[in-house]
Amino acid sequence: MNTPSKISTAQIRRDFLEFFRGKGHTIVPSAPLVPANDPTLLFTNSGMVQFKNVFLGSEKPGYVRAADVQRCLRAGGKHNDLDQVGYTARHHTFFEMLGNWSFGDYFKDDAIAWAWELLTGVWGLPAERLLVTVYHTDDEAYDLWHRKIGIPAERIVRIGDNKGAPFASDNFWQMADTGPCGPCTEIFYDHGEQHFGGPPGSPDEDGDRYIEIWNLVFMQFDRQPDGSLAPLPAPCVDTGMGLERLAAVLQHAHSNYEIDIFSRLIAAAAQYTGTTDLNNKSLRVIADHIRACSFLIVDGVLPANEGRGYVLRRIIRRALRHGWMLGQKQPFFHRMVATLVETMGEAYPELAAKQQFVERALQAEEERFAETLDSGMRIFDEVAARSSGTIPGGDAFRLYDTYGFPVDLTADIARERGLSVDMAGFDAAMTQQRDTARAAGKFGNTSTMPAELAAQLAPTGFLGYDKLTEGGLEVVALLRDGRPVDAISAGDEAVVILDRTPFYAESGGQVGDAGELDESGTRFVVRDTVKFAGQFHGHLGTLGAGTLKRGDRVLAAVDAQRRAATVLNHSATHLLHAALRSVVGEHVTQKGSLVAPDRLRFDFAHFQPLTAAELAEIERRVNAEVRGNHAAEVHNMGMQEALDFGALALFGEKYGDQVRVLRMGAGSTELCGGTHVSRTGDIGLFKIVSEGGVSAGVRRIEAVTGQGALEYVAAEERRLEEAAQLLGGNAADVADKIRVLLDRQKKLERELESLKAKAASGATSDLAASAIQIGDIRVIATRLEGFDAKALRDAIDRLKQQLGDAVIVLAGASEGKAALVAGVSGAAAGKVKAGELLSHVAGQINGKGGGRPDMAQGGGDDGPALLQALAGVADWVERKLS
Ligand code: ALA
Repeated sequence: MNTPSKISTAQIRRDFLEFFRGKGHTIVPSAPLVPANDPTLLFTNSGMVQFKNVFLGSEKPGYVRAADVQRCLRAGGKHNDLDQVGYTARHHTFFEMLGNWSFGDYFKDDAIAWAWELLTGVWGLPAERLLVTVYHTDDEAYDLWHRKIGIPAERIVRIGDNKGAPFASDNFWQMADTGPCGPCTEIFYDHGEQHFGGPPGSPDEDGDRYIEIWNLVFMQFDRQPDGSLAPLPAPCVDTGMGLERLAAVLQHAHSNYEIDIFSRLIAAAAQYTGTTDLNNKSLRVIADHIRACSFLIVDGVLPANEGRGYVLRRIIRRALRHGWMLGQKQPFFHRMVATLVETMGEAYPELAAKQQFVERALQAEEERFAETLDSGMRIFDEVAARSSGTIPGGDAFRLYDTYGFPVDLTADIARERGLSVDMAGFDAAMTQQRDTARAAGKFGNTSTMPAELAAQLAPTGFLGYDKLTEGGLEVVALLRDGRPVDAISAGDEAVVILDRTPFYAESGGQVGDAGELDESGTRFVVRDTVKFAGQFHGHLGTLGAGTLKRGDRVLAAVDAQRRAATVLNHSATHLLHAALRSVVGEHVTQKGSLVAPDRLRFDFAHFQPLTAAELAEIERRVNAEVRGNHAAEVHNMGMQEALDFGALALFGEKYGDQVRVLRMGAGSTELCGGTHVSRTGDIGLFKIVSEGGVSAGVRRIEAVTGQGALEYVAAEERRLEEAAQLLGGNAADVADKIRVLLDRQKKLERELESLKAKAASGATSDLAASAIQIGDIRVIATRLEGFDAKALRDAIDRLKQQLGDAVIVLAGASEGKAALVAGVSGAAAGKVKAGELLSHVAGQINGKGGGRPDMAQGGGDDGPALLQALAGVADWVERKLS
C-alpha cells in the first residue's frame, strides 16, 4: 500500500469537523480553559467539560449531536501531566481534543462505526495497525468491534478494574472524582516493532509501540460524592481523540514533538535560546509550556500566588528555568507567542486577538522571576552539594518563599540530579509560616466567641438595609475580654450582641457601622461592628453610663452620616469594578476591597500600572453612570439564577443558596450583601486619588466620592492656588510660569558652572603662587570654602600640572565638615605617600581617609583643628623628605 501523504494539523481539525458535520453534528467552538461555574474543576481537562450539565440533564443545548476541537489543560487537579512534560514523547500540559457527542441520541453502534470510518476511510490508516480495548463486561462493544467492524479477536483487549477499585479502570472514564462517567473503548495505533512496548493490558503496555489515539466513552452514570453511581437521565457518547497523537500518526512521526506545530515552536525556542541541538529536551518543555501559558492568559488567568494563577506561574517558571539551563538569562519566553499565533492563530482567533496582551503578561512575569532565578539556582546548588539524596523541606521552603521557586520546580530540578525533596518538611514549614502570619493578624481574635454560646443563639437579624434606627431590640449576649458575662458597667469595653440590629457588620470590604445603643440612663458607644462566628453582629464599644444586662431592651441608632458616606463608596466600588473591566479587560478580577466612610480602596488582578489615559477613562465612565442616576436594584434569588442573570461572583468567595444581587445601570451586576445608595446619582462625584502596585500582579486604586470627593478637589485647588500665588500668577498659567522658571534655572546653572570653573582655576593659580618650597618639592596645604570633593580633585589635577614636583592637601569646607583630598606628583612621588599624608591630616580632625600613593581622599570636621593640621603639613613633608 502507498504511504498516504502527510496531513497538516490544521487539515486534521477541518477533516474531523467536516466528517461529523456530515453525520448531523452541530459544530461548537472550544470552551475556555477555565470552566464556567464549575468549582469542582480547576481546568477544562477534556472535551466533555463544557457539556457536563447537558449529560446531567440540567441543561438543554438545542441539539443532540455535537462535535468540536477543545483546548485542554492537564496541570494541577485530577489529571496532571506537568511533571511528565519533557521526559516522554507524548505528554503535554496543553493539548487539543477532537470530540463528538451524542446527548441521548446515538450510542455505541454509531460511535464505533463512525470512528472506524473516519480513521480508516477518510485518513486511510491501515486496519492492521489498529487495535482496541473494551471494558471487561462490555460485551456489546466487543461484539460491535468483532462482528460488525471485523476486528479479529486477538486485537480486541478486555480491560478490567485495573486501578484497584470497582469501576477504577483504564476503560472506565470519569471527568473528576464526581460527575458523569462510564465504560469506554479505546483505539490504539501500532507504531511498529522497531519501538519497544506491548499491547494494552500486557506488562509492557507503557512502552512506546502501542499508542492510544481515540477514546469513546459511553456515559451512563453520575458519580456521587460518596462514590456511588447514579444513572444519567439518558445514555450519552463522549469521545476524545488527542490531536497531537493523531497528527504524529498522520505525519509519519513517532513523537508528538515532531509534528508540524511543535517543529515550528521548537525551532523558535532554539532560536531564542541560542540552542543548536534541536533534540534538547528543554526545547520541548518550552514548546509545550508556551501553549499552556498563552491559552491560560487568553482565558483570563494571570500569574498569581494561589489557585489557577499559581498553576500558570508554575508552568511559566518551569519554562524559564529550562531557558536558563540553555544559557538564556534574558526574557525570551514571551517572544515565542508570535510563533504560536502563526501556527494556531487561525484555529483560535481569540489567541491572535490577544497576542500583545499575552506577550506583556509573560514578559512581566519573566522580568519578575529573572530577579531571583539566578540566586535561587545558586542556593539550590549549595543545598544539593551538602545534601545526601534529599533536599531538606526547610531549604525547599526558602527557595519558595525567598526565590519564588514553586516546590514542584525544585522537585523537578532535584529529579534531574537524582535527588528528591522532603515534601512533608516543606509542608510543615509552609504551615508554620501561615500560623505565624495568622497569629500576627490584627483581628486575629476579635471575632471568635465560645462555641457553647454560639450554639445557644439564633443568627442576628439584619435590619440595616432599610433602617438605621430601631427600638426594643434585645441584648442576647455580652462579652467582656472574650468571655460571656451577664452584665457590664460604666467604663467597660465590651461586645454587645442583639437579637436584631440595623448595624452592618464588617464584610465584603465594607467597614462595620458605628453608633449608639441606648436604654434610659445607659449609653453604649459602638465603635465598630464585626461578625462573630460568621453570623452574629457583635457591637464593639464602651459603656458610657449606667449598666447593661442580658435581656435588656435597647434602641440601636447607627451613625447615619458615617453610614451614608460608606454607602456612596460601596456603590462607587461596584461602578469602578465594572468600568475597570470594560476599559482594562475582563481579566480584571477583584482581589480585595475596603469600603470606608472617607474612601474606597479596590485591589484587582492586573500586571502593569494603568496609564493616565486609562485612569481618566475609568473616572469618566464611573461619573457618567453617576450622572445617569440609575436606580440600584436589589434582587434576591438562587445562586444559579443569579449567575444566569449575569451577576459577577468573586472566585473563591462562599455564597449561600440564596444570594442578593445588586444591579446599577447597564454595566454593573454583582452579588453583594452590602448596603448601597438608592440611586447612583447619590454618589455625586467620583474621583480617583491614587493607583499603585500592591504585590506581583495586583494593583490598587484608591478613590473618594460625594462630599469627600468635593473636599479632595477643593484641597487640590487650594494647593494649585498657593502655587500660583508663589509664582505670581493665577491657576491657569501655573504650568507656563513653571516652564519659564525651569528654563531660567537651567540657564543659571550653566552660568554658575562656568563661573565656578573660572573661579577654581583662578584660585588654583593663586594657590600655586603661595606654594612653600622644600628642596625641589613644592608643598600646598590649604582650606577652600565651599569646594566639594570633585572640585578639590580637579584643583589638585591642575596644581599637579602647574607645579610638577608637588605635595598638595586641599580641604573643602562646607557646613561644619571638610572634604580632604591629597595629591603627590613628580619627584615627590616615592618619597611621600598621599594616603599616608591624608590619614595624618584626617586623624587630627576626627576624620579618616586613604587612597593610592599619588591621590587620596577623606574627610573630617571643619574648624581650628583643621587649620592647625594644614599648617603642620609642610613640616611633616620635610621630615619625610629628609
Ligand atoms: N472524555 C474522554 C477523554 O478525555 C473522551 O478521554
